[in-house]
Amino acid sequence: MLNLDGVSAAYGASRVLFDISLSLKEGEVVTLMGRNGMGKTTTIRCIMGLLAPSGGEIRFLNREISGWPPEKIARLGAGLVPEGRQVFATLTVRENLVATAANRNNRENPWTLERIYDLFPRLRERHAQMAATLSGGEQQMLAVGRALMTNPSLLILDEATEGLAPVIRTEIWHVIEKLKAEGQSILLIDKNLSVLKRLADRHYIIERGRTVWSGGRAELERDSEQVQAYVGV
Ligand SMILES: Nc1ncnc2c1ncn2[C@@H]1O[C@H](COP(=O)(O)OP(=O)(O)O)[C@@H](O)[C@H]1O
Ligand SMILES: [Mg+2]
Repeated sequence: MLNLDGVSAAYGASRVLFDISLSLKEGEVVTLMGRNGMGKTTTIRCIMGLLAPSGGEIRFLNREISGWPPEKIARLGAGLVPEGRQVFATLTVRENLVATAANRNNRENPWTLERIYDLFPRLRERHAQMAATLSGGEQQMLAVGRALMTNPSLLILDEATEGLAPVIRTEIWHVIEKLKAEGQSILLIDKNLSVLKRLADRHYIIERGRTVWSGGRAELERDSEQVQAYVGV
């Protein structure tokens, strides 16, 4: 479904990505791990078309998408829950959810407002409230709901539970588990290694703009010291 091969990227003269390779098959939950500043968000920005890669290939749903504008990549089927949520502050919860809603790939059982409200009852209670007035946790629920409303083939979460209260984190993990059980393909960034271990099928580690390690559950167990050294503080 998604395949990055030797992707490089820069912000102006400052090179940040040198050699990112990763792949994700339909229905998989794959993580992108690595310490702060290693290039995870930049990789996501390249996938979403928010930053044009300077080299390498990005294939998504059998198309070479590097250099495509973000709207076109979103339309093809990539949905992002961005780092720091970035909900539309001056729109209501409901308006946020319908703003970019679409069933582009004619899913059989598409996401609707009602289904999102069933997934996050808190959003139903707050549906008429301005997004700016929500707690961080509620904003993250809204960001997830907004991405789902585009019925993405691939859902990408950049720092899924960063800065959230423990009880909200648990709720977000529970929802991600539910989505996985429904077959949703997910690319996941988070720092909670123990949850990622349990939840994800495969992992990639990025170190200074390069993919330096990848593996599934067994490899993660085998290389646990090395992995800890890469992602640990
Ligand atoms: N808009 C930007 N302009 C210049 N440098 C940036 C910008 N955004 C991120 N960087 C730099 O790129 C590197 C990778 O950042 P990022 O992809 O955000 O890492 P991560 O998500 O893994 O924490 C860091 O050194 C960061 O300082
Ligand atoms: Mg980041």
